[in-house]
Amino acid sequence: MRTNSLSFDDVLLMPQYSDIESRSEVSLGSSLGVELDFTLPIISAPMDTVTETSMLAAMAHNGGLGILHRYMSAHKQEELLNDAVRRCKPGTPFGVAVGTDSTAALRVEELLNLGASVVCIDVAHAHHLLVKRTLQELRSEYGDDIHIMAGNVATLEAFNTLSDWGADSIKVGIGGGSICSTRIQTGHGMPTFQSVLDCAQSDRPTKLIADGGIRNSGDIVKALAAGADFVMLGSLLAGTDETPGGFITATGQHPRKIYRGMASKTAQMDWRKHVSSIEGVSHTVRCKGPVEEVLHELAVGIRSGLSYSGARSIPELQAKAKFIMQTSASIIESSTHIKRI
Ligand code: XMP
Repeated sequence: MRTNSLSFDDVLLMPQYSDIESRSEVSLGSSLGVELDFTLPIISAPMDTVTETSMLAAMAHNGGLGILHRYMSAHKQEELLNDAVRRCKPGTPFGVAVGTDSTAALRVEELLNLGASVVCIDVAHAHHLLVKRTLQELRSEYGDDIHIMAGNVATLEAFNTLSDWGADSIKVGIGGGSICSTRIQTGHGMPTFQSVLDCAQSDRPTKLIADGGIRNSGDIVKALAAGADFVMLGSLLAGTDETPGGFITATGQHPRKIYRGMASKTAQMDWRKHVSSIEGVSHTVRCKGPVEEVLHELAVGIRSGLSYSGARSIPELQAKAKFIMQTSASIIESSTHIKRI
C-alpha cells in the first residue's frame, strides 16, 4: 500500500530571493505545442455549465483556451463552435471535446473543418482500452497534424501509457473536482496535487494539465510549480456571465447559476436520458460577472506567486520551487483567521 499522498492544502511554496522589481516582468506564457502558445495557462473545463460559445471566445480573448463540451448532438456542437469561430480572429485556438463512442472520429473531422485546433478525448477514466482505440484511430487518420488532449488520469503509469498511445497533452486528476463524488461512489481517486507531482516525473514530452479541485490562484501556482503546464478550471469559472445557463433569482438574494458535474444525475438525464453511476453533484454558485475579471484576478495572483519564488516564467518556477509540508496547525494559520482571535 502506498502511504504518502499530498493535497494542495498539505503544502506551501517556500518564499525565495527575488530580483523581480515589477510583477509585469513575470510571464504566464505556456504552450501546448507548435502554434499553440498561450499567454495564460488556464483552460476552461468541457462541462455544460462552463464552456460553450461565449466561454470559448472569452478564453481565447484573454490568452487561455476553452474546450467546448461534448454533451450534445454533433450538429449542435458544430453550430456552437461555428459561432465562436465567426466572431473571433482567424487562427484563434479553440478546443473541442469528444468521447470514445463510434461517432467520435466523424465528429472530429467536422469540428476540424470548422476550425478546431485542439481535440480533447474527455472521459472520466482515460487509462482505458476505448481511449487507446480512439487515440490510435485519430492518430492514424491525422498523423501529427492535430493536437490531441486526453484525460483524465491519476497515475504516472497512466500518463506514460496515454502518451505512448499518442496523446499530446493529458488531463491529470481523478475525483478531486468541486462537484465530483467519484471517490464516494467508487472508492477510487487520488489527490490532484499528488497526481500532478507523480505525472510530472514522466520522461515523455507530453504536456500536463492539472484538472480538478483548484480553488484559488494559490492552488494554481502550486499545480504549476509541481509540474503542470496548464490548469483546467470548472468551479472558478462557474457563475460567470459567459457560462451557459440562466440566472436563478430569488427576492433579496444575489443571483446564482447552476454548476454541475457531468456525471451528476441531472446532467446525465439531460444528455443521455438515463442515469448510470452517479459520480457528481449539481449545485448553484453566485454569479460572478464577466469571466475577464475573474481571469484577471487569477492572473494577478499567479504572477505574484511566481515572484515569491523569484521566478519570471513557469519553467523558472518549476526549476526553483521548494515545497514544504504544512501541519494541521499551519493549515489553520494559512487561511484567514481573524474571526477566531
Ligand atoms: P473543479 O474543481 O474545477 O473541477 O470544479 C472541474 C473538473 O471536475 C471533473 N468533473 C467531474 N468529475 N464527476 C467527477 O468525478 C463529475 O460529475 C464531473 N464533472 C466534471 C472534470 O475533470 C472537470 O474539469
